[in-house]
Amino acid sequence: MTDLAEARDVDPGKYLQGLGQRRMAIASPCEDTVTMAADAATRALQGFDIDPAEIGTLIVGTETGVDHSKPVAVYVHELLGLDQRCRTFETKHACYGAMAGLTASMDWIGSGRARGRKALVIASDIARYGLKTAGEPTQGAGAVAMVIAEDPRLLAIDPQRIGDYTRQVMDFWRPLYSKYAFADGHYSIQCYLDALAGARVDAVGEEAELLAGLGACLYHVPFVKMAFKAHQRHLEMEYGGPLSKDHTEAWRMLTDSYQRLAAPWLGLNAEIGNIYTGSLFLALIDLLRQAAEGLAGREISLFSYGSGCGATYCIGRIGDRAAHWREALDPAEQLAARRRLSIEEYEGLIGDTEQADTVERLDPARYGLDGGLYYVGTRDHRRQYSRG
Ligand SMILES: CC(C)(COP(=O)(O)OP(=O)(O)OC[C@H]1O[C@@H](n2cnc3c(N)ncnc32)[C@H](O)[C@@H]1OP(=O)(O)O)[C@@H](O)C(=O)NCCC(=O)NCCS
Repeated sequence: MTDLAEARDVDPGKYLQGLGQRRMAIASPCEDTVTMAADAATRALQGFDIDPAEIGTLIVGTETGVDHSKPVAVYVHELLGLDQRCRTFETKHACYGAMAGLTASMDWIGSGRARGRKALVIASDIARYGLKTAGEPTQGAGAVAMVIAEDPRLLAIDPQRIGDYTRQVMDFWRPLYSKYAFADGHYSIQCYLDALAGARVDAVGEEAELLAGLGACLYHVPFVKMAFKAHQRHLEMEYGGPLSKDHTEAWRMLTDSYQRLAAPWLGLNAEIGNIYTGSLFLALIDLLRQAAEGLAGREISLFSYGSGCGATYCIGRIGDRAAHWREALDPAEQLAARRRLSIEEYEGLIGDTEQADTVERLDPARYGLDGGLYYVGTRDHRRQYSRG
């Protein structure tokens, strides 16, 4: 972030403190929504000893599809070797697709149609706003895979306390002809906060006083500071009015509450940047890897927001034995394997990515990659994937 700020002639304090970011992940042209989703799902199935034959629904939530028609999910279905008797589709609603997939999976299980099988929901996205735009420091790339089961080990969401919100707004969108998102950034923050209030009321009613009893509050995190703004709105709903810095006592209550319930779980978001539909679940991973033991049996709130806009607020309970899976969850090793890019390299990668969908052959080695699953070009209008 400091390198980027200096290159853009911006005070680094704006990105570091103003937005709360430390680094951001950049995908090479050989990494796309399919490869990231398949990697995340492989780790989830292996790390939690889940037989792929148990998966009866596969949903990939993404803003960054690779085809106007063919879903990312069907590529992933083949790469994971899932059963053909599996319902497979992609969900799109900006950063909200994975939460839509998660609640749809709960409905599928609750209806009895799952017949004992599990759902695999993957959030996979590459946030691209373009060079030298206001959104540039809020980019990122990554995927989170979740297995939804009748008897969850990590988090049990309460179906009686899920609230939804929808409103047609132009706060962020990406026309069919653009690889880069357009955003009315400050308006999107307002839309997010209104959606939080609306979805929370739908989930628990106007009068609920939840915060005193919750062990954590997780939010959609397009940039870390957004979680503070969200927590402020969350608290204001229970406090009964605006909280401002002018009221020292009330402001201290807000900052204490934020430090206890939201801030500790934003480390991965600060390191990786915005991964759109997975960003809420990145915060959940951060919580589980650090505090699953201390928060075992405790309730937490989760809020997912997708521009355009759609949102869900819900309450879940951390599993009693969730800490047992801490290591399988922790992406520390993958983060340590990242390579720091110079600004020239970063801008070069962005340029190469613009051409990647039409290039016949891409060589992962050119980007220092080997030994993984990569996108290697488009031949005869068909995307090609290869395992090195
Ligand atoms: C988030 C976004 C709107 C910020 O845009 P911006 O106009 O360039 O940035 P701002 O001028 O608002 O500054 C951002 C913050 O840094 C602070 N800041 C600015 N300079 C600073 C400095 N030198 N030191 C510390 N903080 C600084 C600002 O006060 C502001 O904080 P605040 O929001 O608490 O007031 C922009 O990055 C964007 O459009 N992102 C994509 C859309 C998005 O993420 N939307 C979120 C909802 S989904």
